[in-house]
Amino acid sequence: MATTGDSLRKIIAVTGGSGRLGQYVVKQLMHTFDVKVLDLKRPPQDLPYAEVDVLDLAALRRELAGVDAVIHLAAIDFDLQASPEAYIHVNVLGTWNVLQAAHELGIRRVVLCSSVSACGLSEANPAFAPDYLPIDEAHARYPVQAYSVSKLIMEEIAQSFVRRGDIEVLCLRPMMVLIPENIQPTVARAADIDTRWLFYYISPEDCARAFECALTARDVKFGVFFITAEDSCRDEPTLVWLQRALGKLPEIRDKQRFEKNPYASVFDGSQAREVLGFTPTSNWREITLTRR
Ligand SMILES: NC(=O)c1ccc[n+]([C@@H]2O[C@H](COP(=O)([O-])OP(=O)(O)OC[C@H]3O[C@@H](n4cnc5c(N)ncnc54)[C@H](O)[C@@H]3O)[C@@H](O)[C@H]2O)c1
Repeated sequence: MATTGDSLRKIIAVTGGSGRLGQYVVKQLMHTFDVKVLDLKRPPQDLPYAEVDVLDLAALRRELAGVDAVIHLAAIDFDLQASPEAYIHVNVLGTWNVLQAAHELGIRRVVLCSSVSACGLSEANPAFAPDYLPIDEAHARYPVQAYSVSKLIMEEIAQSFVRRGDIEVLCLRPMMVLIPENIQPTVARAADIDTRWLFYYISPEDCARAFECALTARDVKFGVFFITAEDSCRDEPTLVWLQRALGKLPEIRDKQRFEKNPYASVFDGSQAREVLGFTPTSNWREITLTRR
């Protein structure tokens, strides 16, 4: 494994490390690793930084040389409401370039930030109703929006690189990352009983830990993992609001889940727990209680 200077710590490059989620990921990794941020803008922390556009393959080849692993977060996020072609261009080609450069440089592990959106169960999709509960990674994908399509294509690209045999690519699908600015709008969203949304979330601190788990997990070459809190971000039992929203509940494959925790998330995080060793710690009602 490469190291720099007199440090024996592994070097992790984080694309998009200056962004909303990226700042939490960088903070988490800094305990254990030397972190280098590749982004269009400088991170708030004082650490190695290269101004890199992920659309620039030559710059990626140059700036990834000597790193041990890559976390790829740089993308146009759904919240930016960009044009459809911008999502496809930056998120798809940017991911291709990061994997191409990493593969050429012999970097063994890349962790990609996909999204819950890759499965397409979002409010803008006529196929909004899940086929069954809880939704696991084997669930059919129904993406419609360009952002969601870009994330699903990223996962396909990842798999194609893994087939080459000498690179491991793990794709994390975070739920909505509940940065502090998102808490109040999420509470307001639940007040509208007609909201067609599945009230999924992950705390930014937990999400950052999930990326570290994916970086260090052993005996896994490829995988797609929902990164979800145990609960939903709504102050009402999950099956109650879901039945109201859908008119009829889908097949429930794990009935005990909603008996044990009536507020349980509709997304199943057990694959991330079993393969990556990631366990979420947040609780929506505790998060909102401290704000009342
Ligand atoms: N925020 C969420 O709820 C959420 C949920 C699931 C997945 N994600 C994914 O997490 C990742 C980070 O999202 P975020 O919420 O922090 O968004 P963000 O916009 O705050 O951060 C994205 C970062 O990527 C950088 N970036 C954008 N285009 C770039 C380019 N061409 N080259 C280099 N850097 C570029 C930006 O400067 C920014 O720092 C994205 O891949 C996003 O799709 C976010």
